[in-house]
Amino acid sequence: MVTLAVSAEGPGAWDEWRKAFQEVAPQIQTVSWFDPAFDPSKADYALVWHPAPGDMAKMAKMRAMLCSGAGVNQLVGRGDFPKDVMLVRMGGDQTAVLMADYVLWAIVSLLRDARTWALQQERKIWRRNLEYRTSAETTIGILGYGNLGSAVARRLSKAGFQVSAWCRRVRPVEDIPLYFGEDGKVELLGKTDILVNLLPSTPQTRGLIDAEFLSHLKPGGSLINVGRGDQVVAEDLISALDSGRMPGAVLDVFAPEPLPEDSAFWQHPKVFVTPHVAAEASCKMQAAYVAGAIGEIEAGKVPALTYHPDWGY
Ligand code: GLV
Repeated sequence: MVTLAVSAEGPGAWDEWRKAFQEVAPQIQTVSWFDPAFDPSKADYALVWHPAPGDMAKMAKMRAMLCSGAGVNQLVGRGDFPKDVMLVRMGGDQTAVLMADYVLWAIVSLLRDARTWALQQERKIWRRNLEYRTSAETTIGILGYGNLGSAVARRLSKAGFQVSAWCRRVRPVEDIPLYFGEDGKVELLGKTDILVNLLPSTPQTRGLIDAEFLSHLKPGGSLINVGRGDQVVAEDLISALDSGRMPGAVLDVFAPEPLPEDSAFWQHPKVFVTPHVAAEASCKMQAAYVAGAIGEIEAGKVPALTYHPDWGY
């Protein structure tokens, strides 16, 4: 029997994780990282999200670390990250479907200017702000075409939108038109009505979405950020919104989080703020995914969502 030490989301989350693993993966022995009797040298795997400073060094002899998030930038940039241990990102159907659901909601909210409806409702204003652009007339540009980006692209395409994506790795031809490199980026942005950021946070993508980047976006284009907050230069986004070039934004991720009280995003009439909730699968579904990944590793395989140091995600 393999042993999985659970550190993800802190001691308060242990009970839920314990029950989830008991239900979907009784073949895995779980132990709380926070149990005073716990000895890291006795565990084969660790489930982590934001481990306390120094904790990851204690995982250096484990077979793998599994992250309860799809993004691992919060782990791999740290001094105590054990570089020789396999690290696997969160995946699974529920994560991808939740992300696609969220993006669909965000897109329709932007198309219909639902932020204005919400503001009007607060003040009991009956003003019929009709919008006429339909899904078929709307081009979505997705930044990133990995596990989540490709799932979102397929779902949006099925929903009737025109969908393209920008990605780093050249791939075989797909139904979704893909763009690569600097020229591809400019071409994609130039035809994009709604931009969806799903890139991982790496040294190449931090600060990527700045004034220069946004200047290539089709006039009237909007932004949905479900990647990481550090990829967007907040002041540049606010300027684009305030100048009238960008009609709206839906933001789920910020730098830092929680979003500070004095952030201009909170009360901005063109911005939807959500508290980093786009795609967190239930503990049960995450446990099932983790158990599947552990099964693959035990069978000598490398799970598809294994962190790749050269790629940075
Ligand atoms: C959350 O943002 C995650 O990385 O899954």
